[in-house]
Amino acid sequence: MKNDIKEVLFTEEQLRQKVDELGAQITADYQGKNPLIVSVLKGSYVFMADLTRRIDVPCQVDFMVVSSYGAGTKTSGEVQIIKDLENSIDGRDLIIVEDILDSGVTLSYLMKVLAARGANSIRLCTLLSKPERRKVDIRVDYLGFEIPDEFVVGYGLDFAERYRNLPYIGILKPSVYGEA
Ligand code: IMP
Ligand code: MG
Repeated sequence: MKNDIKEVLFTEEQLRQKVDELGAQITADYQGKNPLIVSVLKGSYVFMADLTRRIDVPCQVDFMVVSSYGAGTKTSGEVQIIKDLENSIDGRDLIIVEDILDSGVTLSYLMKVLAARGANSIRLCTLLSKPERRKVDIRVDYLGFEIPDEFVVGYGLDFAERYRNLPYIGILKPSVYGEA
């Protein structure tokens, strides 16, 4: 696996520190509340597990699986919900946890769907963001790192379902996906 990585972007230690910071911010912001923390699978599973253990207020967790129609195939940016939340979110304070915000199309659609179900508040927490790639305006409430437009893997992020188990985040060598 290591041979396929061009450069390590964030080490395990850097990730741990950032997750500590984000957990502390969320803990401060949600005093006296009981947020529902929603992970969008699969990419966010590692981040979700680490982040929730740094949040020190009562909370619940839930998981969604969505499939987005690739860029260009549907201008509506409509997403299909493959696995939905287990319980009603009416009146709940939601924190959506994502691995990486790219065009933002999937997430902005998802947030509209969830808002329509009567959530009291919805905030977005993403570990990574590629601002250059954004196609829709979307507010990030809790951000780990902004990164350049390169394909990254590890810490949950995959290429063709591989590399999710790398403990750090690295830039994939373009030769691996056949561009060089
Ligand atoms: P979008 O924001 O709707 O374009 O979709 C973002 C999704 O694309 C993420 O949840 C990832 O699954 C995937 N993605 C985008 N950039 C990367 C990357 O650099 N590495 C791995 N997955 C990525
Ligand atoms: Mg994802």
